[in-house]
Amino acid sequence: MTANQNIAVEFKRVMKSFGAKRVLNDVSFQIGQGQALCLLGRSGTGKSVTLKLIMALMRPDSGEVWVDQDNVVGMGEHRLSLVRRKLGYLFQDAALFDSLTLYENLALPLSRLTKKSKDEIDEVVQRVLTDVSLGADGAKYPSALSGGMRKRAGLARALVLEPKILLADEPSSGLDRITAAEIDELLTRQKLEHGTALIIVTHDVHGARRTADRVAVLDKGNLVAFGSVEEVSQSESDVARRLITE
Ligand SMILES: Nc1ncnc2c1ncn2[C@@H]1O[C@H](COP(=O)(O)OP(=O)(O)OP(=O)(O)O)[C@@H](O)[C@H]1O
Ligand SMILES: [Mg+2]
Repeated sequence: MTANQNIAVEFKRVMKSFGAKRVLNDVSFQIGQGQALCLLGRSGTGKSVTLKLIMALMRPDSGEVWVDQDNVVGMGEHRLSLVRRKLGYLFQDAALFDSLTLYENLALPLSRLTKKSKDEIDEVVQRVLTDVSLGADGAKYPSALSGGMRKRAGLARALVLEPKILLADEPSSGLDRITAAEIDELLTRQKLEHGTALIIVTHDVHGARRTADRVAVLDKGNLVAFGSVEEVSQSESDVARRLITE
């Protein structure tokens, strides 16, 4: 089993069931470094489970999950913690600590997980906050942020450790179209300027069409379509065609 240097994430024949319910059935796909994958599918089709398998927060019943150069299935906690350092995760609800300011929320992972000095941390936090247009908001507490600001703050937190791969679970849900488009632009800028691979779970077809190099469609446990927006628009799967064109 050789590792391919250009692959960011690869699933090989992944099976995952909860009890009698099969959530992923023989799912295989790959996405390259610096590419954006949008994961579409109806509610309950295993999109969030797919992200959790990449983070190795869950184990598949069988199959392999490659992250960068490593199969994370069966990996011990020590090596897993090193692999997870390559991953940024944007939670659906942004998941900030309410008792910390925005600045402190971003500085925390840096002081915990890196050997950076206070000045270096300050530099990174300010740069990332500025990148997401929150450069003047570091002293605010999460409760003082609007929904769109919270999403951007969550994105900043996912980016502060400079991940090679960013996983985002519905980064623009609950936002108006313009704010959602701003989030998509930020994600695309991160990909283009830093070569970050993106795996974005979304129900937003417009967003997917704007951001995706590859689209994957899950339906009833199966990967029913995978390819460029154009290819998936012409897929044999009705569900896939409808999800990408509606
Ligand atoms: N820890 C778990 N234990 C048992 N069942 C689970 C667990 N996690 C997910 N499931 C089940 O797996 C299926 C897929 O869940 P998942 O969260 O991946 O859906 P999703 O595609 O993200 O849906 P949505 O668009 O609503 O977020 C669901 O039927 C869910 O109930
Ligand atoms: Mg989900």
